[in-house]
Amino acid sequence: MIQKELETAINEQIAQELTASYNYLGMSTYFDELSLDGFASWMQNQHREEQEHAMRLLNYLQDRGGRVQLASIPSPQVEFNSILEVFETSLQMEIANTNSINALYDLSLKLNDHATKSHLQWFIDEQVEEEKSMEDIIANLKLIGDDKAGLLYLNDKLGQRSPDSEA
Ligand code: FEO
Repeated sequence: MIQKELETAINEQIAQELTASYNYLGMSTYFDELSLDGFASWMQNQHREEQEHAMRLLNYLQDRGGRVQLASIPSPQVEFNSILEVFETSLQMEIANTNSINALYDLSLKLNDHATKSHLQWFIDEQVEEEKSMEDIIANLKLIGDDKAGLLYLNDKLGQRSPDSEA
């Protein structure tokens, strides 16, 4: 049986993953309206990936006899000033998520919950990838600048991402 404090923190993390999922879905609609199908598809993959993260935590909490509490999810932002702003927003979201995963890990250490600590290791590794993909895309966008051909090339490249791979 999982301790109450960890149960609450895992429920909060589930909400955070689902919020991220919803935000990425909002971003995909922004790209769809710009007819940038590759960017839109990449964001939809990201949306699904965050749902999977939430489900990993939800299933784990249930396996440990915890009570799942599903919080309300705020409406996502769907208007942005630029493509670069979308990815800078995404990077900030991932950094915030890394911090909350680390805080959850610290709590599992404090409470001597070794199973939760072990479960969270996957998330810690995953966050390295998540931040890196956003940083890589931001770097590419800065390099491209106002070059439309470069933007279309990146759009094609991002559209090739398979559902279960990173950028
Ligand atoms: Fe589930 Fe992007 O962190």
